[in-house]
Amino acid sequence: MTRDAMPWPAHGGQAAPLLARYALPADHPLLDFSANLNPLGPPAWVPARLAATSPGLARYPAPDYRSAREAIAREAGVTVEQVLLTNGGAEAIFLVAAAHAGGRALIAQPTFTEYARACRAFGLTIEDYPLAPADFSLDPERLGASLAPGTLLWLCRPNNPTATLVSRDAVERLLTLAAASDCRVVVDEAFIDFVTPPEESLAPLLGRFDNLILLRSLTKLYALPGLRVGYLLASESLVHQFHVRQPPWSVNHLAAELVAPLVDDSVFLARTRQWLAEEQPRLQAGLVATGLEVIPSRTNFFLVRPGAESEKTAGQSQLDMMGEPGTGRREGRAATETLFERLLRSGILARHTHGFPGLDGGWLRLALRDRSDNDRLLAALAEGESS
Ligand SMILES: Cc1ncc(COP(=O)(O)O)c(C=O)c1O
Repeated sequence: MTRDAMPWPAHGGQAAPLLARYALPADHPLLDFSANLNPLGPPAWVPARLAATSPGLARYPAPDYRSAREAIAREAGVTVEQVLLTNGGAEAIFLVAAAHAGGRALIAQPTFTEYARACRAFGLTIEDYPLAPADFSLDPERLGASLAPGTLLWLCRPNNPTATLVSRDAVERLLTLAAASDCRVVVDEAFIDFVTPPEESLAPLLGRFDNLILLRSLTKLYALPGLRVGYLLASESLVHQFHVRQPPWSVNHLAAELVAPLVDDSVFLARTRQWLAEEQPRLQAGLVATGLEVIPSRTNFFLVRPGAESEKTAGQSQLDMMGEPGTGRREGRAATETLFERLLRSGILARHTHGFPGLDGGWLRLALRDRSDNDRLLAALAEGESS
């Protein structure tokens, strides 16, 4: 198969098909900057805790996951009945789509691709709402005006892959506009704990807006993608609607037993915040210094693309680069693919952006890792500059 005929993998963390694409050996050493996981995780106590709870694998989990939900409710300041424990944030996304089967969805794009996949799976009619091309910001008035009655709106905060954050005030305004036209708003907060400087979750708004559905994940903060734990917060009646669509025992015993100790581990969260406060601005400045165009990030990853210099497309408008007809789009994408390949060959796996509406492969997403890994990324970028 020629390189161009090979599909790009749908998610980060999938090195094998990318190594094959560039005819590199399967054991080519790589630092994975494509998956946005906390490099400090999982917390050191996790393996011992898993071993201690493993005898419980011989029984079915308690179907209501009471103690896990109580810990989440305590942390979020909601009632236990407002919490649904899910098999990762991904299951929560699919349960929300299932409960709106056949309806209408509006997705603020570019964003996490599973919202569209879940909506398609349940026959929702999907419309994309493009974020501002220059900085991926969102104007709540303009978005609110385009909400047809009964629409399910999907927002990601902070947004994957743009690393931008819609302000709490903007979400509040949107919730008000949405409520007036009988629309529900899904806000995916999978990365909320990485926001720098830290910002509160939207959970307190659940008391005022029964059209708000909040999705959370334990995957990213605790670096436990194989565990599969997330949760959903909403009004009690909405949670009931999602719960009746969930398969029984959807979350396994080991995962459910880890929830309370994870959310209660304030020391791990404090260490994470300290790493973010030091490393996030340092890497952002380092990336800019290599000549990349960097979308100012509020979280633990960066959306970047080669600067105008290296694209040799000086004079192209931003819109051209975003995917409007014209040569800029194609040339910009070629420069990005060259950078992707160069990084891969020097041992850095970046996240491509093929499949994100409005990005179409013209950008790369890079995760924030620990200091020495981040330095290796910067060195790899600088090497290319001087060659
Ligand atoms: C924005 C967002 N939401 C949800 C998920 C799914 O998380 P989980 O692994 O908990 O299913 C991801 C995973 O990449 C994500 O980026």
